[in-house]
Amino acid sequence: MQLIDGKSISAQIKQEIADEVKEIVAAGGKRPHLAAVLVGHDGGSESYVAHKVKACEQCGFKSSLIRFENDITEEQLLAEIDKLNNDDDIDGFIVQLPLPKHIREQKVIEAIDYHKDVDGFHPINVGRLSIGLPCFVSATPSGIIELLRRYNIDTKGKHCVVLGRSNIVGKPIAALMMQKSNPGNATVTVCHSGTPNIKEICRTADIIIAAMGCPNFVTADMVKEGAVVLDVGTTRLPDPNSPKGWKLTGDVCFDEVAPRCSYITPVPGGVGPMTIVSLMRNTLMAGKKCVFDS
Ligand code: GUN
Repeated sequence: MQLIDGKSISAQIKQEIADEVKEIVAAGGKRPHLAAVLVGHDGGSESYVAHKVKACEQCGFKSSLIRFENDITEEQLLAEIDKLNNDDDIDGFIVQLPLPKHIREQKVIEAIDYHKDVDGFHPINVGRLSIGLPCFVSATPSGIIELLRRYNIDTKGKHCVVLGRSNIVGKPIAALMMQKSNPGNATVTVCHSGTPNIKEICRTADIIIAAMGCPNFVTADMVKEGAVVLDVGTTRLPDPNSPKGWKLTGDVCFDEVAPRCSYITPVPGGVGPMTIVSLMRNTLMAGKKCVFDS
């Protein structure tokens, strides 16, 4: 069994990005600039955005954190997005989700200029992804593909079972794994809460991508000997022994599943660190204005 070390791969990619930014700036080019919009004070969102800002520093990007209180109206937020769309200094921006209940998330996502949509959530980016055109790919699926690439894991003709059908992970990773490319070219099955025989389907998988958000859902009896298991789960479970009071828990029962695998990602330190670094790669591409050229 080989552990997939997302922490070290992500550090390596950040260094590659930082080197490229140095070259761009040395040649008189513009330093990429990412803006992050944060509404309210949700603990998880605060922490994700802080990590994104820190990653920008490490990559040599300019970053701006734009905060609003929970009572901002949808109309006001849409007006702020319009400003960011028209700000030539900002290459890409994200609106951290979730948003307060009175704001329609889809409306906000669709207001973002897709050329600056480094989250890859806009329907134009999602649609382009599904038909194999160049686009911004959402960060977690893009990070998973990069791990498969860097570990030289063969996906062609393999049966890939995706657990979960979210717009952010399940649907785009299924599209990427079935794409005629490498990594890709897999036969993909998507399972979700409405799938009655998940265990049997998982047992036929060469690759399992667990993205349901159900802690410890994947058990040893669901995994074929030699399978590749990629765990996207990041549920915070209460843990009185941790100084934070919680423990990040994946969708896979790591201890019992790992001995059966050829490759497996740990939680934390697997897919998680790749997510932020993929956002950084998208920001670099946004800065270079090269995504939609071809
Ligand atoms: N909330 C949880 N994950 C994400 C993400 O990747 N992007 C944004 N904008 N919000 C999130």
